[in-house]
Amino acid sequence: MTYRIVIDKEHCVGHARCANIAPHLFKLDESGYIATRGFDVPEGEEIAAFRGSISCPERVIKMLDADGQQVKKTPRSA
Ligand code: F3S
Repeated sequence: MTYRIVIDKEHCVGHARCANIAPHLFKLDESGYIATRGFDVPEGEEIAAFRGSISCPERVIKMLDADGQQVKKTPRSA
């Protein structure tokens, strides 16, 4: 299963919880806001990506499956 993270970057307020959980996936800019609008989840990073996605209090991060459906439960690692 391939997953994608999609981020509503304009509504990030810089909580940085995503980056604290998975700094290698959720990169911040120099001001502390999320630096990306999304990325394909690398193989083996599914759980870290999901945990990062649900950590955002603003709910600006979504993890989508290959069908474009939002992932609501912890995925199994590939
Ligand atoms: Fe922004 Fe949410 Fe991360 S507000 S820095 S996307 S925890």
